[in-house]
Amino acid sequence: MPSIISNFELIIVPLDENYDISSFSCANSELNDFLKDDALNDQTNLISRTSLCFWKGELVGYVTLAVDTIGTKEVYVTDGLECYRYNRYPGIKIARFAVDSRFERRGIGTHLLFAAIGKVLSICDSVGCRYILVDSKKESTGFYEKYGFKIAERNKKRDFVPMYLNMQPIVAKMNLKSID
Ligand SMILES: CC(C)(COP(=O)(O)OP(=O)(O)OC[C@H]1O[C@@H](n2cnc3c(N)ncnc32)[C@H](O)[C@@H]1OP(=O)(O)O)[C@@H](O)C(=O)NCCC(=O)NCCS
Repeated sequence: MPSIISNFELIIVPLDENYDISSFSCANSELNDFLKDDALNDQTNLISRTSLCFWKGELVGYVTLAVDTIGTKEVYVTDGLECYRYNRYPGIKIARFAVDSRFERRGIGTHLLFAAIGKVLSICDSVGCRYILVDSKKESTGFYEKYGFKIAERNKKRDFVPMYLNMQPIVAKMNLKSID
């Protein structure tokens, strides 16, 4: 069993053209191709923003975020907005997310996910953003569920699994902490 890498040893930086991303290789070739072929261009065109995660100078993971929405009928009514009068809720989408295969199950995915949640929390200060959204690979839903993501309604017959994390209780908890 490989050991967990300490958060202090993981460095997250915004993607730019100076980083060598050629060595990155995760289990999913589409995610490898996106990073190498499209991520920088999408970023330049303000379609998405990518953050790279390094350990000891080696690229071990990345996450790409973009703006999205989710249909009100795709989330559970217990999420607290039963009488909501709009058709969609705002959110930030984890558009791409991967850890290099050689470094899986060492805590890097968790570190990157928490960094993404931190970014969304700061966005919530100034922009309405109720959810973090992800179209999970079928084999990765357990990872997201571990951190409180729920499977969206109406996800039948898709080869990915739409999931969401409600930021509202997280923001409420943070606000309480800052009052304490
Ligand atoms: C899914 C992925 C990002 C997880 O990253 P990781 O660095 O291996 O995850 P971590 O080491 O931080 O794991 C944290 C916890 O989640 C669990 N976990 C990790 N991957 C899991 C999976 N696929 N299913 C269920 N649980 C998973 C771990 O066992 C660990 O649990 P523990 O704390 O009880 O031991 C990584 O496996 C990956 O890049 N997979 C290939 C690409 C992919 O599917 N990306 C997601 C696109 S939506």
